[in-house]
Amino acid sequence: MNNISVIGAGTMGNGIAHTFAQFGYQVSLIDVKQDFLDKAIITIGSNLDRQVKKGTISDEIKEKTLANIKTFTSLEKGAEKAGLVVEAASENVEIKLDIFRQLDGICNECTILASNTSSISITKIAAVTKRPDKVIGMHFMNPVPLMKLVEVIKGYSTSEETCRKIFELSVNIDKIPIEADDYPGFVANRILMPMINEAIYTLFEGVAGVEEIDNVMKLGMAHPMGPLQLADFIGLDVCLSILTVLYDGFRNPKYAPCPLLINMVEAGKKGIKSGEGFYQYTKGSKELIVSGRFRK
Ligand SMILES: NC(=O)c1ccc[n+]([C@@H]2O[C@H](COP(=O)([O-])OP(=O)(O)OC[C@H]3O[C@@H](n4cnc5c(N)ncnc54)[C@H](O)[C@@H]3O)[C@@H](O)[C@H]2O)c1
Repeated sequence: MNNISVIGAGTMGNGIAHTFAQFGYQVSLIDVKQDFLDKAIITIGSNLDRQVKKGTISDEIKEKTLANIKTFTSLEKGAEKAGLVVEAASENVEIKLDIFRQLDGICNECTILASNTSSISITKIAAVTKRPDKVIGMHFMNPVPLMKLVEVIKGYSTSEETCRKIFELSVNIDKIPIEADDYPGFVANRILMPMINEAIYTLFEGVAGVEEIDNVMKLGMAHPMGPLQLADFIGLDVCLSILTVLYDGFRNPKYAPCPLLINMVEAGKKGIKSGEGFYQYTKGSKELIVSGRFRK
């Protein structure tokens, strides 16, 4: 499993590629446009610079990491030699099913196909391939080079052997794997998203303002970031889509997305990525410049 292909060079894909490459794996990073790949390499370079500055890696490791990553716009060329593929393309079921259908034809029959999906059923993805025993969820957390957890999701047909190999690999890249079965939201988002949704309802019902809600959770529960700021960081559109998966999957009204969240996403207020969510952000810097009580 020395050759690893990562599909999607966005927020998660570039972090996953960075992490595998840092631990000596040969990484093929694949996206639909060379522009996206070039941007990802720049991001990886500046994240590595930050690690060097902090003293967590040497200059030599930085150079080796960058040399271990090659970029491809062709799925076929980028995935044909892979022992493992980690798909981190956009959270869209049709895109993912199409990628897995193609991978099944491109990759060697022993290759493990993993998805970093936050919420789409691994069982459903596996069912479009002829190797459902070798399809698994490998759910990394953002930012990937820093966060220890990999939630390993076993689809209905995922074999014990596939699971064991992914556990070993996760440990090799200094992560801690935790197994979960394939039900909506797995574990991380099943717990996190209802908390974020409840924070939005608390705001929507006027119980307290944005800062008050976040400060209660930071000061009272020792959370490093309040739930509304965290929602901005994840992306409000992403939060809405995960809540919708939970709501549809369990058919339980407790997961119904707050109408304020729906309105904000429809208005294009998606959090940091759009410059405004529950807070406003200076363009590109991710720095918080305005905060305060949300006005309806
Ligand atoms: N952002 C997070 O905090 C987070 C955390 C855990 C898991 N995830 C999951 O990771 C995945 C990626 O999320 P992201 O935040 O990195 O998204 P993103 O929008 O930053 O990046 C997605 C990338 O996939 C590329 N892409 C789309 N279709 C493709 C295709 N057919 N072939 C190759 N590349 C394609 C896009 O061009 C884009 O560069 C999603 O499944 C998401 O649910 C995200």
